[in-house]
Amino acid sequence: MSFMPKIKIDGKEYIAKENETILQCAQRNGIYIPRYCYHPSLSIAGNCRMCLVEIEKMPKLQTACSTIVAEGMNVFTSSEKVKKARKDVLEFLLKNHPIDCPICDQAGECYLQDYYMDYGLRKSRVSLNEKVRRGKRRQLGDYLILDNERCILCTRCVRFCEEVTKTSELFVANRGDHSFIDIKPETSLNNPYSLNIADICPVGAFTSADFRFRQRVWFLKTTESICLGCATGCRIKVQHNDNTVYRILPLPNEETNTWLCDFGRMTYKEMYSEDRLNHITIESQEFGLDLDKVFDYIKEVKPQEIAVFLSPNLSIEDNIALYYFASNVLKTENIFIPSLPERKIEDGILKNSDPYPNSTGIEIIANKLKLKKDEKTSEKFALVISSLEIAKTYARDSKGIFFSLTKSDMNGAIVPMKSYFENEGTFVNWQKYARKTTVSVVNEKAFSVFDVMKRLAVLFGSNSFFSSLKDIEKFISSNGIDKEFK
Ligand code: SF4
Ligand code: SF4
Ligand code: FES
Repeated sequence: MSFMPKIKIDGKEYIAKENETILQCAQRNGIYIPRYCYHPSLSIAGNCRMCLVEIEKMPKLQTACSTIVAEGMNVFTSSEKVKKARKDVLEFLLKNHPIDCPICDQAGECYLQDYYMDYGLRKSRVSLNEKVRRGKRRQLGDYLILDNERCILCTRCVRFCEEVTKTSELFVANRGDHSFIDIKPETSLNNPYSLNIADICPVGAFTSADFRFRQRVWFLKTTESICLGCATGCRIKVQHNDNTVYRILPLPNEETNTWLCDFGRMTYKEMYSEDRLNHITIESQEFGLDLDKVFDYIKEVKPQEIAVFLSPNLSIEDNIALYYFASNVLKTENIFIPSLPERKIEDGILKNSDPYPNSTGIEIIANKLKLKKDEKTSEKFALVISSLEIAKTYARDSKGIFFSLTKSDMNGAIVPMKSYFENEGTFVNWQKYARKTTVSVVNEKAFSVFDVMKRLAVLFGSNSFFSSLKDIEKFISSNGIDKEFK
């Protein structure tokens, strides 16, 4: 059995975990200790000294991030002595800082600004002219800009590249006042997880080339959602303003992800691509948003000549809408799921070998509803209904109704689809966690598959189609589909 030391923090008793640091124990119990170099997912560096605390019977202040709790420890996190030390640490860190907050993109989410307001509030004893000048605006990778003057040398960025991506591009050059973060010669900071560095840099030294100066952070609103860039299904925060998405940040959680890959972060760009589809196209002719034209396109085709493919790109709800339309409106038995890739974390960090977000979800549906898999149908059927990605494999030469975010030269009716930032739906990741996307921005020039199926059902004269997403939820649970979800 592990030993659980009893300690006191600010006069209150707590049971600590074995080998826990003071900072971790305090944090677990809702006591915040300021920090720069400490990051819960990186090794402990103990170099910034912002987390100093007083411990009874110890003559000197100790760093809370690197001091392991011991039985009977009596810790003070905000005594006068501690506050004075924090003030001194801040003065030291700001000694050579350029104080360019008005033009710094980190303003509003900078730990230097925040702690200065909490503990600093003192005039610099070094004039701007006497400060050590360092490099500004160095583009070190496709997505990262480094401003060395703002760096406080916490080494989070160096440790991230050593410990997480194991690419070790960065290092601390020189000594003392002249130290700075540098990149190894003939290297660029383009590892597939590089933008996490902009997130973890506590000040405005590393900023995102994609996001900087596009929006002040205090204008951004945040919705919680999931990334659909692969079968890992990382949890994310979508930050947006005025109906525009500006950036994606990780929503750290124990089940799936602390970080995000750069590919996933950039998935929002497809919404704003020049090729974004905002009208129905049938055989290269544009038809606005008139779904009646899609009905006209398929109404003469015999149901037994139509094949419907569930899609790992679509939500559980949209796939159920497809299934139900095929079985109850068209009354066809030709409902398939495509052959799906193997699912595993391929780089030891996050990225999944399966590029689809809902392969596990449609496998569960297929199992419960007894659907067939991997039928090469394109020659057998006159018309195929599915997402464009699946149609490219299964209906390259057939007619069809294909749902797509962007324009395509595929033959058939191409229907503009809402992106996952514009639509709510459940996706089941490779570990079977079922999570929902949320509507961050509104798009009235695209449909969900459910919208389209509902309208086509009416045009086919059916009155038994789902009237709302709630009905689909009922169908999902009455068929035991959600029993398989975590
Ligand atoms: S660039 Fe940022 S993360 Fe890296 S050492 Fe400097 S302050 Fe820390
Ligand atoms: S690993 Fe997959 S789910 Fe996670 S951020 Fe990258 S693309 Fe998105
Ligand atoms: S957070 Fe403890 S020394 Fe930096």
